[in-house]
Amino acid sequence: MVKGKLELVICGAAGGIGQPLSLLLKQSDLISHLALFDVVNAPGVAADLSHINTKSTVTGHGKDQMDEAMKGAHTVVIPAGVPRKPGMSRDDLFKINAGIVRDLAEGVAKNCPGANVLVISNPVNSTVPIVCEVLKQHGVFNPRKVFGVSTLDAVRASRFSFETNSSIPPSSRVTVVGGHSGTTIVPLLSQLPNNFVGSLSKEELEKLTYRIQFGGDEVVKAKDGAGSATLSMAFAGARFTLAVLQATVGGKTGLIESTYVNLAADADATREFKAKTGLEYFAQDVEFGPEGVQRIVPLPTLSAYEQGLLEVAVKELKVNITKGTAFITDNSKI
Ligand SMILES: NC(=O)c1ccc[n+]([C@@H]2O[C@H](COP(=O)([O-])OP(=O)(O)OC[C@H]3O[C@@H](n4cnc5c(N)ncnc54)[C@H](O)[C@@H]3O)[C@@H](O)[C@H]2O)c1
Repeated sequence: MVKGKLELVICGAAGGIGQPLSLLLKQSDLISHLALFDVVNAPGVAADLSHINTKSTVTGHGKDQMDEAMKGAHTVVIPAGVPRKPGMSRDDLFKINAGIVRDLAEGVAKNCPGANVLVISNPVNSTVPIVCEVLKQHGVFNPRKVFGVSTLDAVRASRFSFETNSSIPPSSRVTVVGGHSGTTIVPLLSQLPNNFVGSLSKEELEKLTYRIQFGGDEVVKAKDGAGSATLSMAFAGARFTLAVLQATVGGKTGLIESTYVNLAADADATREFKAKTGLEYFAQDVEFGPEGVQRIVPLPTLSAYEQGLLEVAVKELKVNITKGTAFITDNSKI
């Protein structure tokens, strides 16, 4: 197999997110080898993408070929697992996806222990702690290199804010903190320019916030049993992955995205927050650097409304984090 300078692996590459995400990443010159791993259909997707005349070589890896796909990879993106059906919460996916993500994290520890790991599989609030605990058990955990991809919340926040008031460009980046599910999603709309929040009534602000928190449900309902967000997620996943690559190998500085990380990634910046909330994981603005997380950007001053949302989020996050961590450290409790 041709091994290029920068190998990026997509686990679950033949899925609803995996395919369009692979297509978007095939367009990046930063990647020399795109390795597509899935338990079904990976060779077909790889053959198809490999005809596109961009720089990267594409290889497909089936069920028993995880190790060869991951060997020496720079970055591993994980959109593997089952998506939601109408009426399901992200937490309902835990039973199946926890085991899938654990096995993939074992593969990372064994084959590419220094890789950046980007976790898309839900419930992200719990699957990220699973990855971190597996890497810890293998003695290869680096908190600067494990990311929960919550970018879709920021993408939705930008789009829905623009729909509410067109003076906010749709490309504006909204900081979204907390976690990635329902009320753990806390969009900091007070940070938007032009007194955006001031231009909204209380009801409008609550409606917009709710839509950002539960936007995924709109897609699950409209797809009517055929899955959850895939195309918008692929867009968000590619945006996040490319930011990580541009900072780690592309030499770009100052790139910031909100992402769900272990707070040990920047212990100094988060010490006070951790002591106050008791949380070990939290989504916050992160600036990327050559080693992954360069720094966690301190929380800005929140409005009273956002402070209330944060308190609700913290309570739920604690439960989600404990569930993920215990899945690895104390399997008998699950
Ligand atoms: N982070 C987010 O914002 C976000 C948004 C939408 C969906 N998701 C999550 O992403 C995940 C994937 O969603 P989807 O719509 O692409 O689902 P999908 O069912 O269309 O695709 C999942 C793919 O994973 C593969 N797979 C299953 N087990 C695997 C394993 N052990 N190793 C490798 N591949 C494996 C399947 O064969 C399938 O091709 C779900 O957990 C979903 O909830 C996350």
